[in-house]
Amino acid sequence: MIGIDLQPSPETFRVDRNVAWVAGDASSPATWETALSLAETEFAAFPDVLVLNAGRLALGNVLETSVDTFREVMEVNVYGAVLGMQACLPHMIRAGSGTVVVVASVNGLFAEQNLAAYNTSKGALVQLVRSTAVDHARSGVRINAVCPTSIDTPFLRRHVDSTPDPEAFWRAMAARHPTGSVLTPDQVASAVLFLASDQSTGITGTTLVIDCGLTASPTYDDTL
Ligand SMILES: NC(=O)c1ccc[n+]([C@@H]2O[C@H](COP(=O)([O-])OP(=O)(O)OC[C@H]3O[C@@H](n4cnc5c(N)ncnc54)[C@H](O)[C@@H]3O)[C@@H](O)[C@H]2O)c1
Repeated sequence: MIGIDLQPSPETFRVDRNVAWVAGDASSPATWETALSLAETEFAAFPDVLVLNAGRLALGNVLETSVDTFREVMEVNVYGAVLGMQACLPHMIRAGSGTVVVVASVNGLFAEQNLAAYNTSKGALVQLVRSTAVDHARSGVRINAVCPTSIDTPFLRRHVDSTPDPEAFWRAMAARHPTGSVLTPDQVASAVLFLASDQSTGITGTTLVIDCGLTASPTYDDTL
């Protein structure tokens, strides 16, 4: 496995000989070139599973979000995924098999307030997945997205901490889900694993919604 992140490899991966790491920007072509050459030198193989997970969030409506900020969000969330596909798909197509899983968001299916750039980028990702899945379905490559609701990660904690009353925000965020909770990273990872594996051979071009019941009941109110 090869991990790509702006941050250095976590300690647990450093001692695992099955994991190689590229500390780099997923929206830079050079990062993908390094990852592919590592695949060859470390594992004598090309990628057969690609998970596109890097994401950026910017707060603000379209009037408050500068074009530069919009570009930065699109650069990572959308063009990073495009670059990853452009790097890995040719090898999968040559091999006649492979799976790509894109971590989109429920924000690709509906819009939350004050997240104009983020919502736009996740909507674009959903269409990227459909387009590429259709174009490459006959090559034996499957391409799917997961659309999670809020996940308890540093990303979400940073977002919550930027609100005027983080504790109240967290409570309200959990309460709007019919389950009364947000997702754990493991719940999302299991869905990604399913789409990446031979357990889902009939599935391509889909968006697997992982949302604690949110889209089944967008007006859910736990006081009723
Ligand atoms: N946390 C949530 O509530 C939530 C909900 C729905 C979807 N998502 C999506 O899940 C994905 C992962 O988010 P998370 O919550 O784990 O975020 P996180 O910020 O906790 O982790 C994201 C990781 O991506 C890395 N990263 C950011 N930009 C990068 C870049 N340009 N190149 C390489 N690495 C980069 C960061 O260093 C970090 O390690 C994102 O695409 C996000 O949009 C998150």
